[in-house]
Amino acid sequence: MPTLAEARALDAADPIGGYRKQFALPPGVVYLDGNSLGALPLGTAARLGEVIRREWGEGLVRSWNPKENGGADWIGLPRRVGAMIAPLIGAQADEVIACDSTSVNLFKLIAAALALQKTLGCPRRKVVLSEPGNFPTDLYLIAGLETQGLAERRLAPVEALEAALDDSVALLLLTHVHYKSGAMHDMARLTHAAHAAGALVLWDLSHSAGAVPVDLGGCEADLAVGCGYKYLNGGPGAPAFAFVARRHHDALHQPLTGWMGHAAPFAFTDDYAPAPGIDRLLTGTPPILGLAALEEGVRLIAEIGVERLSAKSRALSEFLRAAIAQVAPDLPCISPEGPGPRGSQLSYRHPQAYAIAQALIARGVIPDFREPDVLRLGLSPAYIRFEDGWHAAQALGEVLASGEWERAEFKARAAVT
Ligand SMILES: Cc1ncc(COP(=O)(O)O)c(C=O)c1O
Repeated sequence: MPTLAEARALDAADPIGGYRKQFALPPGVVYLDGNSLGALPLGTAARLGEVIRREWGEGLVRSWNPKENGGADWIGLPRRVGAMIAPLIGAQADEVIACDSTSVNLFKLIAAALALQKTLGCPRRKVVLSEPGNFPTDLYLIAGLETQGLAERRLAPVEALEAALDDSVALLLLTHVHYKSGAMHDMARLTHAAHAAGALVLWDLSHSAGAVPVDLGGCEADLAVGCGYKYLNGGPGAPAFAFVARRHHDALHQPLTGWMGHAAPFAFTDDYAPAPGIDRLLTGTPPILGLAALEEGVRLIAEIGVERLSAKSRALSEFLRAAIAQVAPDLPCISPEGPGPRGSQLSYRHPQAYAIAQALIARGVIPDFREPDVLRLGLSPAYIRFEDGWHAAQALGEVLASGEWERAEFKARAAVT
């Protein structure tokens, strides 16, 4: 039976509990939406101030150059941030780059995988296999490439994915941790099954990076993408990241062949030649303010380390699940239970989940809602305390028992849910 005293004892014994002080969390708010927009690291404002005042204001265009040329190494930021993300996802430093949005990186890598199959001698493989209910942007991007005549979209439910891997499949594209339920795919098993069928694999790590262990290298994954603004705390609209296994670097050609992905961008030649290695994933001028903010977020998460983060995430989710079971025993939890793998969230189903989320927000507990009936409680292990979990459970119990969610103001849908 979880109690407030127990929550406080767990917080006192939490080896990473001290990191909460490094985030700007408003007093009186329990923030359970770090899997949508991560909290603000305290170092970010100072860093952005420095980038704006000194690097931009004084350094001006000189700041693009590496330090040894008297600059602030803006040109190196996408690679530098990528290298910091790499250990969080089981990759080598030169296999990851921070750039563009997750959606744009998905476009580049799906198209590149289809082209790579041609290079590998399988030009007829055009199917991109995914699952129904995957995050919409992943499904829309496959559909977009289908409209261009480049891909063919096939969706199969989780239990039928392996059977759907026939010799027409070019790429298996899955989100490692499901955004709604928090269910986690078996990355090693599915990657090996895809390879055995001659398909490549692209993992969307948006709900994994910085929260749960990921071993792209150990699983021999080919490609991956992920968000910078969730558990990596890069800020609203932060650049995303992309991973390409080193063995594919030379043969991988992405279609957004902008000048920043050129082997010699400042040679200004008429013909495109891809940069060696992961740099060829770049397209246009990197967004320096966004990358500098992302670097601060990733620095903290990398310092804590994924093992400590995932251990805390598991303990927190077990505590919260037990606390909610105590106050709302009939509320169905759709997130996986038990010792098996899962993401860093708990999701509950209720026909009035939207209104319940709004009523919780009015009480200072911020969860989110996902269509049609999911109340999502994200547990960012770097800054959420057990005590937050306890308060959130009490608030949820009270909102359900009092029926306060029935108020009209909680039912009116905002533009962003
Ligand atoms: C699994 C997943 N993939 C992709 C995205 C979209 O990323 P972006 O907005 O950077 O394109 C999200 C956003 O929430 C997501 O949850």
